[in-house]
Amino acid sequence: MKKKVVLVYSGGLDTSICIPMMREEYGFDEVYTVTVDVGQPKEDIQQAAEKAAAMGTIHRTVDAKDEFIRDYCFPALKANGDYQGYPMSTSIARPLIAKKAVEVALEVGATAFAHGCTGKGNDQFRIEYTIRTLMPEAIIHAPIREKNLTRSWEIEYAKKHNVPIQQSLEKIWSIDENLWGRSIEGGRLEEPDFAPPEEIFQWTVSPEKAPAEKSNVVMTFQAGVPVAINGRGLEPAALVIFANEIAGNHGVGRIDIMEDRLMGLKVRENYECPGATLLLKAHQALEALVLTREELRFKKHVDQEWSRLAYEGLWFDPLKADLEGFLAKTSKRVTGEVRLSLYKGALQVTGRSSPWALYSEDLASFDSKTFDQRESTGAVKNFGLQSRMFHHLAMKLAEEKE
Ligand code: ARG
Repeated sequence: MKKKVVLVYSGGLDTSICIPMMREEYGFDEVYTVTVDVGQPKEDIQQAAEKAAAMGTIHRTVDAKDEFIRDYCFPALKANGDYQGYPMSTSIARPLIAKKAVEVALEVGATAFAHGCTGKGNDQFRIEYTIRTLMPEAIIHAPIREKNLTRSWEIEYAKKHNVPIQQSLEKIWSIDENLWGRSIEGGRLEEPDFAPPEEIFQWTVSPEKAPAEKSNVVMTFQAGVPVAINGRGLEPAALVIFANEIAGNHGVGRIDIMEDRLMGLKVRENYECPGATLLLKAHQALEALVLTREELRFKKHVDQEWSRLAYEGLWFDPLKADLEGFLAKTSKRVTGEVRLSLYKGALQVTGRSSPWALYSEDLASFDSKTFDQRESTGAVKNFGLQSRMFHHLAMKLAEEKE
């Protein structure tokens, strides 16, 4: 029986050196490389396939773009998915990538997996948890972590084993990209005080070079899901690509944060996520129109818990499904339109409407008589009863002491 291993493959240096390692150090006869297309650059996907072919693996590219938007990004949108200011993109792609690797393993009869994650990051948790959830008998190898490898050692090893690495050597930044966002790390960005250079951005123009005229955009939602932009109905992936374009052209969606990773490391992260920024802002504006004050307050906690689980990659935790039950219910009313303006890096909501709006112009208007102001008198008089009582007591007791 041939020993088979499925390698989660991006085509970068870390995953590429895993190929000869799986054969020579781990004793596998057949290496299956799987690259999952969640919207990273086409050249990266093609290069991965070419490298895999050059190194004689059995390679598979799995197009998961639609599934990614439908089942990962849109659920994140319903939860206003955000971790410390980061509209999670890398994190929500990992469970899908691992799931696709498991599907390939089931198909070819493999139970061994390998990935190129280091021991410092979050992806090792997300990927291994998903694989073990879907295939309890899986054995997972993480050579970079297990052998505590450094980049210079990897380059030497690659040269000795004819691993093509030219593109990796030319890369200054470590970039992870999918349809929901781009993440840029490494190089001098590792200095928290180093200003992000213009060259790291690909999807957003710098605000100062953005058009001098503002654009208005109308987002249409149905049950918490965006379905049209400027009245034009679009399929999920096409809609997100269009949203990226619109917001990116106006320099909207650049983020620079310090991020607390799972292991406790603080890491400086740069993101550009124009489409996600636009969609999240619009979604929140519509929620503010249709949900009650009570729902909005409670939903903040639901969103935060959902986001934490998603960040950690605990995609199959029952709590996540429980929270999604709540999100499905509130989302039913998140139907309507939001108008936003984009101008030189600024994104502003300028209007919203919904058949579910909990807003009555007649009640709120300064001119209306429907709401009889006189009825508020008693409510105002009794407002803050306990807090007033406390102050009166405190004054009295202080007097007695004197
Ligand atoms: N810190 C982010 C996360 O864990 C993104 C990491 C992406 N990696 C990269 N090489 N840019 O979700």
